[in-house]
Amino acid sequence: MQSYTLLAPAKINLYLEIIGLRADGYHELAMVMQTVDLADKIVLRPNGNDAFRLSCDHPQVPADQTNLAYKAAQLMASEFPKSFANYGGADIHIQKNIPVAAGLAGGSTNGAAVLVGLNLIWQLGLTHSELEELAGQLGSDVPFCISGGTALATGRGNELDTLPPLNNLYVVLGKYESLAVPTPWAYKTYKEQFSETYVSDIATLESRGKRVHSGPMVNAIAHQDSRKIGELLHNDLEKVVLPAYPQVEQLRQAFLNEKESYSETILGAMMSGSGPTVFAITTTLTQAENLKQKIQTTLPDPDLKLWVAKFISSGISIAGDS
Ligand code: C5P
Repeated sequence: MQSYTLLAPAKINLYLEIIGLRADGYHELAMVMQTVDLADKIVLRPNGNDAFRLSCDHPQVPADQTNLAYKAAQLMASEFPKSFANYGGADIHIQKNIPVAAGLAGGSTNGAAVLVGLNLIWQLGLTHSELEELAGQLGSDVPFCISGGTALATGRGNELDTLPPLNNLYVVLGKYESLAVPTPWAYKTYKEQFSETYVSDIATLESRGKRVHSGPMVNAIAHQDSRKIGELLHNDLEKVVLPAYPQVEQLRQAFLNEKESYSETILGAMMSGSGPTVFAITTTLTQAENLKQKIQTTLPDPDLKLWVAKFISSGISIAGDS
């Protein structure tokens, strides 16, 4: 049976608005998500026995049942017991390139890759929308990771509308290696501080999400207006994460200071998801590499890691098979 090596890209949020609290306890969101070519490699090797074995080259990633990649495999086994019985389990290895607990959907994209990989190995023929349905059971960001690209995500984050691709932009991503922001903490703290701004009746809750479809960010993307996209970057979670993590605020400010001086080349800067990763958008690779150098000089802290990546229009893809 065939093995597969998949690329599982990270995402950034170009827009994240928290609208209110849903009946299921999650927040109703309106987000614009974008995949970038900083990607983990996931190798799936059929092992012919009745179990999944998970390994990962990153010491901070638990290679156990709490890992979304493992949960994805278990979900597939319970949804497709005959295929599991026929084909058996797989050895799953994660080669981590995406920083962990960073607001870049690193765990979610690994879960999405396992769904895609077992769909191939077990020859199930599931469509992307069927895979997204399953992905929604694993986490709010997992459905987006299946197809990636540029998309509007509403509901819990799992209702997706594809937007025109933005393939000509680059990002510099920055993260303090020792910092991690737990996503549940960020949403809980937001609720404690801002619940009075929440839309409370269900009909308005849903229509507010839909309103973003015709909002300025979606318009700017439709017109490929990268300057406008940079101006319209917005993330409600910055309101709670930045005050609690001064280093993240300092990094964001360092990016924004560079934007002040080089407004022609740096389009905007913001925290991604629940953080602590901060990113800045540029229109060329050279500009992104120059900005990375500048930030390294301004904040010479060995704990600060920086990456340059490109916007891409794909989600999980096959890197190789054997
Ligand atoms: O769905 P996921 O497991 O990725 O979400 C992690 C946590 O983030 C949830 O347990 C919840 O606390 C918070 N969350 C939320 N509303 C969303 C998505 C996530 O409150 N739409």
